[in-house]
Amino acid sequence: MDNQVSRRAFLKATTATVAAVGTVGTHATAEAATKTKPNLGATTLPYPSTAVGKSRGMKVLTPVSFNYPDAASPCVALKMDSAAPGGVGPEGNIVAYSILCSHMGCPVSFDTDAKTFKCPCHYSIFDPENNGQMVCGHATENLPQIDLKYDAKTDSVTAVGVNGLIYGRQSNLL
Ligand code: FES
Repeated sequence: MDNQVSRRAFLKATTATVAAVGTVGTHATAEAATKTKPNLGATTLPYPSTAVGKSRGMKVLTPVSFNYPDAASPCVALKMDSAAPGGVGPEGNIVAYSILCSHMGCPVSFDTDAKTFKCPCHYSIFDPENNGQMVCGHATENLPQIDLKYDAKTDSVTAVGVNGLIYGRQSNLL
């Protein structure tokens, strides 16, 4: 009888141990899977950080060319003469845009007097002081605005993202 009870106790103890090990094992496996799985619910793309220049070195209303998020995407940064939406820097007046027209991809150029981007192909006009808003012309979308970050310690302006779809792409990151 004593022998039977202890056998029962032994079986109970063994079952509990196996269950506990199984739970820990399952938990560890789930944790490992979480670490290796891509974040399918993420809403932001893994944009690179690209140096645009120093705020001090930028002249007001003078475009600074750079490429973002890759070499095939021409952009310009502009130091406006007053703060602008999305602007960074000590005065919040540095903005940047893709220069590929949202209509058919012609490169727009900055008109200093009118403070607008103008497209030479079908004459669309975009406002850099207003998030690249389409003012008139064939385009129906704004110019994609480049998200900028400013580091006051180093006076550096860095491109960190894009608002809007760059012309000709299905995704801003190829
Ligand atoms: Fe710019 Fe048509 S490509 S208006």
